[in-house]
Order: sequence, then C-alpha cells, then structure tokens
Amino acid sequence: MRISVIGCGYLGAVHAACMAKLGHEVVGIDVDDLKIADLSNATAPFYEPGLEALLRDVQDTGRLSFTTDMAAAAGSDVHFICVGTPQKKGENGADMTYVDAALHTLLPYLAPGNIVVGKSTVPVGTAARLAQLVESREPSAHLVWNPEFLREGHALADTLNPDRLVYGVSDGLEDHPAVAVLDDVYAGSLASGTPRLVTDHPTAELVKTAANSFLATKISFINAMAEVCEAAGADVTRLADAIGLDDRIGRKFLHAGIGFGGGCLPKDIRAFMARAGELGADQALTFLREVDAINMRRRTRVVELTRELCGGMLLGKRITVLGAAFKPESDDVRDSPALSIAAQLQLQGAVVTVTDPKALANAARRFPELQYVPDLDAAIANADALLLLTEWQQYRAIDPYEIGAQVSSLRILDGRNVLDAAKWRAAGWTYRGLGRP
Ligand code: UGA
Repeated sequence: MRISVIGCGYLGAVHAACMAKLGHEVVGIDVDDLKIADLSNATAPFYEPGLEALLRDVQDTGRLSFTTDMAAAAGSDVHFICVGTPQKKGENGADMTYVDAALHTLLPYLAPGNIVVGKSTVPVGTAARLAQLVESREPSAHLVWNPEFLREGHALADTLNPDRLVYGVSDGLEDHPAVAVLDDVYAGSLASGTPRLVTDHPTAELVKTAANSFLATKISFINAMAEVCEAAGADVTRLADAIGLDDRIGRKFLHAGIGFGGGCLPKDIRAFMARAGELGADQALTFLREVDAINMRRRTRVVELTRELCGGMLLGKRITVLGAAFKPESDDVRDSPALSIAAQLQLQGAVVTVTDPKALANAARRFPELQYVPDLDAAIANADALLLLTEWQQYRAIDPYEIGAQVSSLRILDGRNVLDAAKWRAAGWTYRGLGRP
C-alpha cells in the first residue's frame, strides 16, 4: 500500500520505518528540515535502539522516503497523523496545534476513499471533530483513531508486534470500510496473532489515555508504598516481589524509585484530568491528581535523602548523577526526573556533574547550567556522592570495589533500587535506596 506518515518524531519516524519494513511504500513528512535531512540519510534524529539499521535496510529497498512537502501525501491510500500533543504552556490540557495544522495541511491532498489514521494521544472528542473536517473535504474518505502504545527504547518491537491494535471508526462496527484497509496495512502483525479490537472513536481515544493513566497509577502506587516502607522500616522491593506474584497484580511497573517522567505519562494524566473537567466528569479522575503528586514528591524526597547522605548539607558537595534520560535506552530528557533532581541539587548549592551514555546533548540544551561529562570514570572522580537516577545497564554493572578509590566518599543513592545493597555495603559504601531500610 502507499502510506504517508505525517510527523517524524519518536512516534512517526519509527512508524514510517516499520510500515516500510512491513512491505508498504512510505513517505514520511515533517516541517523540520533538519530532521528530514537526517532521516533521508538514514540517520535517526534521536536514539532508539535498532532504528538506524532499520532505516538503512528499508531505504535500500526504495520503499521509504522523507520530505518536508505535504504534496508528497497525494497518491497515498492511508495517511497516519503522528505529530506531538505536548502539554499547553501554563495549563494542563493538551496542545492540539500540531494535530490541527497537520490535518489542515493534508486536506487538499485527500483523494476519494483515502483513510486518515490518527495515532497521536489526544483528548477524547478530537476524532469526531477531525472526522467532520475530513468528510466535508472528501465525503468518501474516513478518519480512524488507531492509538499507539509503543514504549521508547522498545519502539521497533512494539510497532511491529504490538500487544493489540485498536481501530476507532465512526460507527464502531466491524464492517466499516476503513477496517479492511487497516487490516491490509497491519496484515503482517495480524498474521502473527496480534489481537485487534474495533471500537467507536471516543472509546479508541480513551483506551490510550486510560492505559497510560493505569500505568502511571501503578508506579505511583508502589512509590506510595515506598513512602510507607520508609516510615515503617520495610523493604518496598521485596513487597513488590511478593504482591507481584499475584497474577491479578503482576510485578511489571512496580519498580519503586524516583518516579515516572518522559513525554507521555506526566502530560497524558494531566490532559486527561483537564478533558474530564470539560466533560463534567472531573470527580472521576481526582485520584490522578494524587498520582501526579506522589510522583512529584519522589523528586523532593531524593533531594532530601541526598542531603542526609552528605551529612546534612549540600553546599559545595560534589555530586555525580548517573543518568539523565527519563529511562534507559533513550536520549529523551522530556520531564526527566533524573535531570529535574540534578537541577534541584545544583540550585541548593551542590556542584553537580551529570553523565549519561546518550542523553547529554539533549540534557545540556534543557539545563545548560549543569556540568556534563560523557566519560563515566571522569564523571565520578572525587565525587562526594553518586546518585544512580537512570538505570542504564552500565551503571547497574558498576563494581563498588573497583570504583571505591576514584571517589572522594563512598556514598551512593540508588534512585531506581537496582543495585545489590549488600554488595555495596560490603565494599564499604553507605548505600541508600528508596523505600528500603
Ligand atoms: C509510555 C507507555 O508505557 C507506552 O505504552 C505509551 O505508548 C507511551 O508512554 C506513549 O504514550 O507514547 P514511555 O513513556 O516510553 O511509554 O515509557 P515507560 O516505559 O512507560 O516509562 C515511563 C516512566 O516510568 C519512565 O520514567 C520510567 O523510568 C518510569 N517507570 C516505569 C517507573 O518509575 N517504574 C516502573 O515500574 C516503570
């Protein structure tokens, strides 16, 4: 099939490459010429494991191209909208500027029978509004909402083999003409057994926000337990192991630590609350305010713990933060709890050095006042305390015996509860985890 993908960020670039991998002829379109220049050279404008190799593979087949010119969408049967919906400045709601602009620019190129597929995370009600615009321009075209559930760091596998596919169509019925078209687009995934659900527009939009809200709630739940464990002298990691063995609960997303960040969970729960308020259903989601508050409290808690670890004062203390990205295997620093903690410590008088295998360039743009050192040994030299805040494998694998001589004091705060506390203590370190004795 001929496919256009509008918006080539974390979602769109991966989607375009994966659609080409599935055998379609794809054009990726974005307003950012630097991004398009990179992608045209099979260079990923951000770090995502496997993406550059995939871009090279599919570009060699001639099935994938990139452009800034929306006219290239003409002739495609299916148009995916993959632009961002960030949080509005000074408000909780989602900024729909990019989605609206993408659709308006696309409209003149729509042909009879085309399918426009929304993948961005949007406030419920958006699809119905956009469907009217599509149909008033081209009465035989259809708009489908097909939310994306990919995780950064696992984006290729999540796109090629998703847990499920959700198609939101205007009447919510299996025999809607757009369903067969999308089944062709995803034929490869469907053949390997991916479940597929057809719903109406608002249900499909809500599936995405509900899923992210559930995940955020699960993380904040275990972080709330970490607060109680700290007060009671219990160990939240063993508690999570034990409750996670109940398969109604499950161990995934029960990692207590410095909390969630990134370009999705924090802004999605806020936009969801804002939208529920507009719909008169705000009471239903007041618990998400608490989820958000528990999450933000983690950051303050880590600053306080670091102060304790440094003997009650941060002023002049040399602190090395291991990890800047919001999670490992990503260079994304949007709402990164690690960076937010690093900046807070610096504001309180500590001398902060940040290291990360992939995210330092993005981090330096976001917080230019921090010191960034790519080399791990150089970053930890003479540190008064180490803070492991993003659990990259190379930080999990650090040998406490080996690095003991490089730092100034043997103190470590394990913000993700991934280190072997007994081993670090045996090597002479003062070890602090979160929600652990
Ligand atoms: C999230 C969802 O997991 C995806 O399903 C969704 O498609 C995506 O948002 C989106 O809306 O586009 P992502 O933001 O890539 O994906 O990252 P997650 O793996 O969900 O992690 C989010 C944050 O939670 C990270 O900061 C991570 O460190 C933190 N986290 C995760 C915890 O603190 N504890 C956990 O147990 C799990």
